[in-house]
Amino acid sequence: MRKKIIAGNWKMNMDLSEGLDFAESINNYFREKPSDRAEVILCTPFIHLAGLSGLLKDGKIVFGAQNCAAESSGAYTGEVSASMIKSTGAQYVITGHSERRTYYHENDKILNKKAALAVKCGLKVIFCCGEVLQEREEGTHFSVVRRQLEAGLFSLSEEEFKQIIIAYEPVWAIGTGLTATPDQAQEMHKYIRDLISEKYGKNFADQVSILYGGSCKPSNAAEIFSRADVDGGLIGGASLKKEDFCAIVEAV
Ligand code: PGA
Repeated sequence: MRKKIIAGNWKMNMDLSEGLDFAESINNYFREKPSDRAEVILCTPFIHLAGLSGLLKDGKIVFGAQNCAAESSGAYTGEVSASMIKSTGAQYVITGHSERRTYYHENDKILNKKAALAVKCGLKVIFCCGEVLQEREEGTHFSVVRRQLEAGLFSLSEEEFKQIIIAYEPVWAIGTGLTATPDQAQEMHKYIRDLISEKYGKNFADQVSILYGGSCKPSNAAEIFSRADVDGGLIGGASLKKEDFCAIVEAV
C-alpha cells in the first residue's frame, strides 16, 4: 500500500509565535483524533523549524521546509542548506514549487541539484511539477511534466528515488480557486506513474506517492483523493485554516 500524505504548504505566512501556536493546535487535534490513513506534514517557513521539533515530538504530525539551497555549504549569503534543515528534526523539503520556478528562476538543473542534495542529507523531497495554463491549452502539459521529471529527478538512483514524493500542481490551479477536475488529476497522475515505471520499473512506481495540489479544499478533496493514482494533497491556502486543513486530512 502506498503512503497517503497531506502536506500543508504555509508559504510565506505566519510569524514565529503564530506559526508555533498554529502547529500546536493542529497537533493537539490529531492527538485526539489520530489520522491513521494519512501522514500529516507541515511545511513551514525556515524560522519555525527548530521550534517545531520540540513541539511535535510525540510524532502525530511531522514537518519540513519549503525550499533548500542547491549547494551543501559555504559562501552563499542568505541560503539554508539541506543538512541545516535536517538538523532541526525536519523530515521533508518541498522543491520545484512553481512559485520558486517562476519568481526565483529555479530551472530543472538547479532543482536536480537540490533534490539530489536533500536526499543525500536524509530528507524526503516533495518534488513539484505542473504546467501553466497556456501549456494546458496548447496540449503540451504532458511533455512539460515529462521534462520536469526527467531533468529534475531521473538522474537519481532507485535507492535515492525512494525518498521522493511527487506533487502534481497545475500552475493555473494554484491559489486561483480553479481546481483540476478529478479526471484531469487522475490522467496526469497516471501519466507520471507510467513515466516512473518506464524508468524504475512497475513495482517501484506503484510505491511512489503522488500528491495533487492546487486549490484543494474540504469541498473537493474527497473526490480528487478517491482517484486511483492520487495519494493525497499538497495544500496551500487551506492549510492556514485549522478546520479546513483537518477536514482535508479526514477526506483521505
Ligand atoms: P493552493 O496552493 O492550495 O493555495 O492552491 C497549493 C500550493 O501552492 O502548494
